[in-house]
Amino acid sequence: MRIYPKYTEAELKKLGLVGKLPEHIGIIMDGNGRWAKQRLMPRSAGHRAGMEALQDIVRTSHSLGIGALTVYAFSTENWGRPAAEIDALMSLLVEYFYKEIDELDANNVRIRTLGELSRFAPKLRTLMETAVQRTENNTGLNFSIAINYGSRAEIVRAVKMLVEEGIPAESITEKCFAEHLYTGELPELDLIIRTAGEQRLSNFLLYQAAYAEFVFTETLFPAFTPEVYCDCIKEFMHRTRRFGKVKE
Ligand code: FPP
Repeated sequence: MRIYPKYTEAELKKLGLVGKLPEHIGIIMDGNGRWAKQRLMPRSAGHRAGMEALQDIVRTSHSLGIGALTVYAFSTENWGRPAAEIDALMSLLVEYFYKEIDELDANNVRIRTLGELSRFAPKLRTLMETAVQRTENNTGLNFSIAINYGSRAEIVRAVKMLVEEGIPAESITEKCFAEHLYTGELPELDLIIRTAGEQRLSNFLLYQAAYAEFVFTETLFPAFTPEVYCDCIKEFMHRTRRFGKVKE
């Protein structure tokens, strides 16, 4: 089993990562289908290659000392894809949780899922719930997988929770609202990366993205290597963030 290294200051400097790293990164993993098509392979092969790319990105996030990584694996709209593709994705997810959990746990990674799990087959659901429970006391990288996730549904769910908890309107603050989102315990989202050239959010972390920086790369997700990932982080680190205030 692989134990991921932690990069020293000197190693980060060598990678060109000097300064404040993003604490929470979201990735919209797009382009698996196009990657497969370019190679005359079935779309499922693109998703498998995407899963392998993701493994490296999780390891790299740990090594860099990123606090939280949230990836968009399956949207509420993805149920509209052909049954064979959905089946292939579900099998991959089973494989991922089955195979990766020991390594992630050994590296102190805390796994979370964002989204409504009730629609998944019991086997996959149990694997995901077990992974979440098993790693809940881990204190390293917060790795969250958005699955059957839609940001609008997440916001509506938060509103329903507030109503059901009987919280009076005057007590509802931005902080209390954010705590009712799936990401409630996670740090503020700093950076959203979308691969494969598309420049939209596609119902991913709409509320959380209020002050996030966006980096778009043409790279298709299966080809999204740790080097390309570090380039995206470097681009973020060169941005000036003002959070609506005047630059000092
Ligand atoms: C979008 O590419 C990608 C997805 C809908 C699935 C993402 C899944 C993975 C990266 C692998 C499995 C994930 C985990 C957590 C193990 P697309 O199919 O829309 O690509 P296209 O736009 O080129 O057709």
